[in-house]
Amino acid sequence: MHTQQRLAVEIAGLGSYLPERILTNSDLEKMVDTSDEWIFPRTGIRERHLLADDEATSDMATAAARTALESAGTAAADLDAIVVATCTPDYFFPATGCLVQAALGAENAMSFDLEAACSGFVFALTWAAGVIASRLAHNVLVIGAEALSRFTDYTDRRSCILFGDAAGAAVLRPAQNGGEFIYAELGSDGSRPNVLITPAGGARAPASHDTVERRDHYMKIQGREVFKAAVNKLTELLATLPERTGVSLDEVKMVIPHQSNVRIINSAFQRAGVDLSKAYMNIDRVGNTSSASIPVAMTEAVERGALERGDLVLFLAFGGGLTWGSVLIRY
Ligand code: COA
Repeated sequence: MHTQQRLAVEIAGLGSYLPERILTNSDLEKMVDTSDEWIFPRTGIRERHLLADDEATSDMATAAARTALESAGTAAADLDAIVVATCTPDYFFPATGCLVQAALGAENAMSFDLEAACSGFVFALTWAAGVIASRLAHNVLVIGAEALSRFTDYTDRRSCILFGDAAGAAVLRPAQNGGEFIYAELGSDGSRPNVLITPAGGARAPASHDTVERRDHYMKIQGREVFKAAVNKLTELLATLPERTGVSLDEVKMVIPHQSNVRIINSAFQRAGVDLSKAYMNIDRVGNTSSASIPVAMTEAVERGALERGDLVLFLAFGGGLTWGSVLIRY
């Protein structure tokens, strides 16, 4: 999908939730054969948050949503739609969105989940902006929420160092503060499903003793392949933004990339000739939280005063599917 249209839709409020429990690199040293000296230089990650035993994705999503609704001054009953971007839902069904709807008391909202892995939030945001602009909805709650630790194999040092749990939320509505949704370029390439996959538990390989024994209910990652594909696509998205939007990177106040790996982000910025100081980073403290990473980072940037109303912000995402997205907004 490729759009360029000026829509008077804005992010009215933001919220995030990070579970209390923290897993540091030194904690991981006690679990697998690894070290902070290996992990930090290769990923930029020092620690990540993990949800409690009695928490699930919908609990984190609901907590982030409550803060976003409060900051937007929107009542849950006034929501027309809730979309939860997640690849780690509470259940296959009912949708995590429906569980969030009930927890919030948002009885007038149609609710569902959207799965586009790490690009989920920008896909969901674009859907929400589209339905508001076409007057199908007025107030839409967009959430990115992931319980990745539930699907992480803590015996696999190649993957278990990367992921954390979190949720971030945004309330979208017709603009009242001068914000706008300017541009979205979203894409997918499903020709290489195995580079990032949870092989079992779905219809292709239903859960069985065998699948559990093979640990196939956990995420499998071909790290090098994902790394290369991510750098290439993010470089292209950055480099082509000015010609496609008429907006130069100098005018953009902040780029919020999906926090996948600091080296992926550095390489893409370097190749595209974009100053790395434009990128907002919090991966050192949260790790890779898939669809939650962009709204969590944006909430933090606004809370810290690094981003203000009127600023141009570019979201950049790349993840499983493969999927990717570049979304430019005025906050
Ligand atoms: N600690 C110590 N050694 C490790 C290690 C760890 N946590 N993980 C891998 N190694 C070892 C490997 O065993 C390998 O050793 P070998 O050559 O003796 O077999 C060596 O380090 C290199 O492994 P490799 O997997 O090629 O490392 P890498 O430089 O590609 O870095 C990632 C691994 C995962 C950090 C990197 O590929 C990456 O970030 N990829 C993208 C991640 C991703 O898919 N994110 C989700 C979607 S956004």
